[in-house]
Parts: sequence; structure tokens; C-alpha cells
Amino acid sequence: MNIMTNPAALDVDRIRRDFPILTQTVRGKKLVFLDTAASAQKPRAVIDAMAVAMQTQYANVHRGLHWMSERTTEAYESTRDAVAELMNANDRSEVVFVRNSTEAINLLAHSYGRGVLKPGQAVLISGMEHHSNIVPWQLLRDAHGIELRVAPITDAGELDMTAFESLLEDGKVGLVAITHMSNVLGSVTPAERIVSIAHAYGAKVMFDGSQAIVHRKVDVCALGCDFYCWTGHKLYGPTGIGVLWGKRDLLERMPPFLGGGDMISSVTYEQSTWAAVPHKFEAGTPAILEGIGLKAAIGYVRAIGYDVMEAHEASLVEHALSRLAGMDGIRVLGNAQQRGGVISFIVDKAHAHDVATLLDRQGIAVRAGHHCAEPLMHRFNLDSTARASFGIYTTHAEVDALVDGLVRVREFFQ
Ligand code: ALA
Repeated sequence: MNIMTNPAALDVDRIRRDFPILTQTVRGKKLVFLDTAASAQKPRAVIDAMAVAMQTQYANVHRGLHWMSERTTEAYESTRDAVAELMNANDRSEVVFVRNSTEAINLLAHSYGRGVLKPGQAVLISGMEHHSNIVPWQLLRDAHGIELRVAPITDAGELDMTAFESLLEDGKVGLVAITHMSNVLGSVTPAERIVSIAHAYGAKVMFDGSQAIVHRKVDVCALGCDFYCWTGHKLYGPTGIGVLWGKRDLLERMPPFLGGGDMISSVTYEQSTWAAVPHKFEAGTPAILEGIGLKAAIGYVRAIGYDVMEAHEASLVEHALSRLAGMDGIRVLGNAQQRGGVISFIVDKAHAHDVATLLDRQGIAVRAGHHCAEPLMHRFNLDSTARASFGIYTTHAEVDALVDGLVRVREFFQ
């Protein structure tokens, strides 16, 4: 692995050499990739780990009584240890592998929602959730008589903590399911406070950490939450693998989500019994190669260090906000005190899709649209924004390229 040597500052040039894709030109221009929040690029360490596994050590896991299966099982299962360490989980069996955060939340809604929550109880989300943390709860509401409550956000794009607490006061909320960092606003929610208020009213807490874990050290013991989910592809790992971490006693109370091979202890036509957690929730052949790639991604980011990544990102955000603030006709959405490397903005007289298309002509990749957060768009009376998002390989020069690109977009619409 080829990373940095100076722990005090991120050597971005060296980091960039670890990401082969970044050397490309697109549309004849140097690629400026500012869409990391949608999916991060992959370092060579991840690419190699998966390629080497395919070339030298691959078989199905958990089932084979042969050398190749045993080695592959060890490699795959060692990712569970890496995840447990990354999140400071008490126990590796609290780490459930899923496809992505969406699957993790669906698992929770199905299994905790139908198996543990009782009709008449409520689930409390926030006004800045991704659809993946809205729709599964609507399905639960409609199937199981669970009320869905939404804690509003302020104009600054922060969780309204007074309203949040008042929605818990009647004691009916069984679960708070809330983002740890908004994929639209970049706002980081006050996780410890959320947990302590929710627990005081008897509610469990699940954080959607899809964005947060890319930018912040996540310590589930320190947070005190009950569930935490994230997805590998945003953390410089492969697609198709994500994590639902849950406290062991809660996972043990939950019925299975998907049935099939690998999640059982025994099967007869009359009845089946379940494997212990986490395997009870992991039916079928898992994402073996992706699991191996995820371990490499975790090793990669840990070798850099969250403190270094966070400082780099804070510096990029500060630079971007100050440059954008100086531009006519650009408005940044939200202004949270605590924020990560995601900035949504609108351009006067231009639809966000046109902004993204015109930036793309200059080699600059941003996301545009509702970002799978339509209710949040409605909160700000918008249907779409453009969004720039940063990663460990993002440079200040790329932020400047975005600003220059936006000047040209503005000229186009004059
Ligand atoms: N959830 C991803 C995003 O925010 C896809 O772009």
C-alpha cells in the first residue's frame, strides 16, 4: 500500500497515485471527480486484493471441507474482525454483512420492525433522510401499524433538537432512525445527544452512517447507539457489501430477514431453526470478493487515519464555501456548524441538471437532482440541486476548477 508518510497532513499527490482511475481524461479534459458521496473511487489496494483473491484463493465460504474454501472463509471472515475494530464493536458477531445501507435498513425495518416493535409504536426519522431511510419505514407503517414521525430541520440544515425531543415525549417511539451525516447538506447530526435523549424516552437508535463513516471515526461504544449501518462502496471499497452493526442482545431478539442456506441451524419440512448471529441474517452465498475488497479498503483508510482525512476534508470544505460565497448567483444549501465534505448548491437561472451537464463538458463530475432525498428538497422549496462531494483524493485545485467551471456555467445562462 502506497500511502502518506507525514501523519500531520494528507499527501494528496501520493494518495492520488493509489487511484488509477484519477489519471484519466474525460471529454478531452483532466478528470475532476467531485461525486465521491455517490460512490468513491477505488485504491489499487482494493483492486489488487480482489484480483489476487480471484487469481489465487477463491471458493465458496462456510461450506467447503477443502483447503480453498477454508482459506477463502478465513479471508472473508477476517473482514468481520476488521469492521468490528473499525467501529469499536464489542463483539465481531455484532457485524452483519448486507449488500448496502438500503438493505441494512430494510433488514432492520422488517426484522426489528415486525419482530420487536408493536403496532401503535412509532419510528422517528429526520427531515434530512435519504429515501433508503424513509421508504422501509413507510412499508413497515403500512404493514404493521407503526406510526412514522419526522423531526424537522432548521433553515441551516440542522436537526431541530427541541422538536426532536418533543416527538419522543409521549414514550411511543420505539426506534429513532436518523442519518449521521446528510448526503445532501453535509450536516453531521449530534449523535451522542440524539442517543442520550432517545434512550431517556426508551427508544433505541439506529444511525445511517453511509456518509459519516467516510469522513469521521465512528465508535459505536462511544456513541452508545443500538444499530449503525453503512456501505462499502462509499468507503473506497467495492459495491455489493455493507454493514449493519447491532447490539448483540437486540440482534438475538430479531427474527431472520431472508431465509435460505447458511442462516439455519437445522431444517426439516416441519420447521427450521436459525444459526447464531450474525449468520442468522446472512442467507445465501455472500459477497465474498467484495468482502475481501472491503477489508483492503478499511486497511487503506485506517493507515491514513481519520484525523488526517477529517482535517483534509475540513480544509476543502472551508475553501469551497469561501470561494462559492464570493460568487454571484450561487446559493449553497444549508449552513450547519458540523458538516462533512458534501456541498449542495443552486445556480441562478440554471436547472441543476444543466449545471451538471455543463460542468461535465469541462471534465468536472458532480451529482445533480434530488439526491434520493425528495422530502428534503421540498423542505427548501426545490426540486433539485447540484452537489459537489469530496474524498481523500480531492485537491484544493479541483475545488478551484469547480468554481471556474461555475463561472462558465453562469456565463452560458447570462
Ligand atoms: N446515496 C448516494 C448519493 O447520495 C447514491 O449520491
